[in-house]
Amino acid sequence: MQTEILGNAKSVDKQGNVLIIKTDQAIARIWVYSPAVIRINVSRSFNEHDPSFAVIQTPSETINYTESAGEIAVITSEVKLLINKSPLRFNFYTAGGKVLSGDDPRFGINWQGDRVINYRKLFPDERFIGLGEKTGNLDRRGSHYVNWNTDAPLHDTRTDPLYKTFPFFIGLHSGLTYGLFFDNTYKSYFDFGATTNEQMSWFGADGGDMNYYFFGAQSVGEIIEDYTWLTGRMEMPPLWSLGYQQCRWSYMSAAEVLNIAENFRKEKIPADVLYCDIDYMEGFKIFTWNKETFAEPESFIAKLKAMNFRLVTIVDPGIKVEPGYQQYDEGLANNYFATYPNGENYTADVWPGSCHFPDFFREDVREWWGAAFSALTEPGVEGFWNDMNEPAAWGQNMPWLVKFGDKYMPQIRNAYGMQMAKATYEGTRKLLGNKRPFVLTRAAYSGTQRYSAIWTGDNSAYDAHMLLGQRLVNSLGITGMSLTGVDIGGFTGDPTPALMVRWNSLGVYTPMFRNHAMQGTKMREPWCWGKENEAVIKKDIELRYRLLPYIYSSFYQSHQTGLPTSRTLAINYTTDNNVFDVKYQNQFLFGDALMVAPVESTKFTEEVYLPAGTWFRFSTGEKFAGGRAVIADAPLTDLPVFVKASAIIPMQSLVQSTNEKGDGILEVNVWHGTAANSFVYYEDDGVSYDYEKGGYFKRRITYDPGKRLISFAETEGSFTSKYDRIKLVLHGFSIGEHGFKINGTIKVPAGSVLVFNNDTQIIEIAF
Ligand code: GLC
Repeated sequence: MQTEILGNAKSVDKQGNVLIIKTDQAIARIWVYSPAVIRINVSRSFNEHDPSFAVIQTPSETINYTESAGEIAVITSEVKLLINKSPLRFNFYTAGGKVLSGDDPRFGINWQGDRVINYRKLFPDERFIGLGEKTGNLDRRGSHYVNWNTDAPLHDTRTDPLYKTFPFFIGLHSGLTYGLFFDNTYKSYFDFGATTNEQMSWFGADGGDMNYYFFGAQSVGEIIEDYTWLTGRMEMPPLWSLGYQQCRWSYMSAAEVLNIAENFRKEKIPADVLYCDIDYMEGFKIFTWNKETFAEPESFIAKLKAMNFRLVTIVDPGIKVEPGYQQYDEGLANNYFATYPNGENYTADVWPGSCHFPDFFREDVREWWGAAFSALTEPGVEGFWNDMNEPAAWGQNMPWLVKFGDKYMPQIRNAYGMQMAKATYEGTRKLLGNKRPFVLTRAAYSGTQRYSAIWTGDNSAYDAHMLLGQRLVNSLGITGMSLTGVDIGGFTGDPTPALMVRWNSLGVYTPMFRNHAMQGTKMREPWCWGKENEAVIKKDIELRYRLLPYIYSSFYQSHQTGLPTSRTLAINYTTDNNVFDVKYQNQFLFGDALMVAPVESTKFTEEVYLPAGTWFRFSTGEKFAGGRAVIADAPLTDLPVFVKASAIIPMQSLVQSTNEKGDGILEVNVWHGTAANSFVYYEDDGVSYDYEKGGYFKRRITYDPGKRLISFAETEGSFTSKYDRIKLVLHGFSIGEHGFKINGTIKVPAGSVLVFNNDTQIIEIAF
């Protein structure tokens, strides 16, 4: 094997919006997507028609460059790309000329066989965050990773690779930020100075082009905005999917599921979602119902709905080889399955036994798959759980000569799960009319946020796995995935009661709050842990429901800007070294206002780092100065959660499911602070796509301590809020004797609480 170098620029040419630089070995193409986003493709066999699964934007129509003897410069209002001609090397700078990132001057881009690699400069203080579902530390410096979507049961806190591929990272050094998305679905490799004696970082893939997008915005938040602008943002999720979800492999009959539903209502533990894992099917055949145990799906689901529950059912890609089974017959007749090069269908064993695998890369196959969901939507299913789509088969190692359309498995394996989720989303969206489907997938590639929520696969019931899960969720948030979750309680093994309680309390602040367990483990429902523990679990789930107006508004932010609901502190406190300290690296902001510190179930105090500013303990109101670590009480009844000063947190009265209206009062909690703040409150019907046509209720709530005003702006949108009154609750204020003035009229305060109509209001506070 030889190392083939990129060589020197031999010609420079602009064709329309692409700058083309040729060397003897390869062709480099450069596009400007936006002033902060530049794409570079270096290839020995570029094919314009190769689609990107991730990118939904097109490049700007023009590219401007200047050329001198040694250099080519592409300059936008935000980034400078200086290209060294001999040898061809790419270096990025801020608009003001500070070095952001670039090729290692010695090695740059090169090839070994089909492998393509980019060696890059490494700065002494450089940190790396991102790559999505990757074990290890928040700061990935000194680690290396492989992207190869893998069914990873029994994975531990170091296993790599796992189920998903997000080849996007953010580099931080010298107070600067940049992002890099390597859009290549081959098996790929990232090394953040792990194996180079700290001399350089590198990334590459087994094949394909050196095809990357460089992000030059100067904050982590803006880079995430730009990355999700490029690869898409999530739709508004169904509100019910943000409620509590109870799952298990497996509830064995409709009667058992109904019994669980009844128990939630009897125990008055709020919940919205129940799941059917693989056992609802006939012999694990996708799109069938077991005729004995789930004999009447329609009346079964109607009964669940009458109790305000939605049902999510699992689907795997493997179609059982069984003549007479509709999906098998149709798939066979229409050549919908992945094949060997000789045309034979590829066969492997999964739950149903021998299976064929739909070629989700083809539009006709996706349409066929999508339409088949009528077997589930007609009886009333609204959520679709896509599992085993790495794809998984027993033995794992799919032969390299399996073909999906004109591509071989090694070329696109990493996007298979995403294409299944896309097919599921598109099909069920059509079938459900104007209703939002809920899609959940295990395997994913960049851009999956457009179609689906994700969970982190088969985790385990021990503390370190709970903490790992939080890091995975936080990291997935950097890569555009906001609606994410872990199996609360741990899939494999049995949690101790303490771990179950603790993990459930963390679930309150997990974007998707789903309790799930493996077949054969002890039952996991909230009432399985003794009365005392049940009471704690219940109280925490109740808090989740009280917080839903805040959580839903946070998802609106994800929908609008791509910012995740669970945010590593590295997003807001990028230059504070403490947030990368392994002691504090699991801490995260949940939405704008709450900071959560995960704590192991065996510890009852925790050292928590409070970033600069003032913080209040959410549960007690106790005030803390930030910029330091504190020892926080952490009994199982009270996970350390802190509220940022000046926070605005809308909450609601307790309901048992998102279908209930509650008491019609939106409780707006404002926490004292000396800085002005505002919060965009967002509401819609929670189920339909009417919000796309203006059917929402949105207003900005502003707290201005200088003027002692809290104002509720005019509302936007045509939706009528389900709350007709607002209750303002002030925390940490000492209200003066003049109390509040509403639109100029003095009201005598009852403590720090005030209730008024849900019209435009200006509240003056004497404090
Ligand atoms: C896989 C999934 C798990 C599911 C099981 C049975 O292990 O990751 O969540 O319960 O398959 O379908």
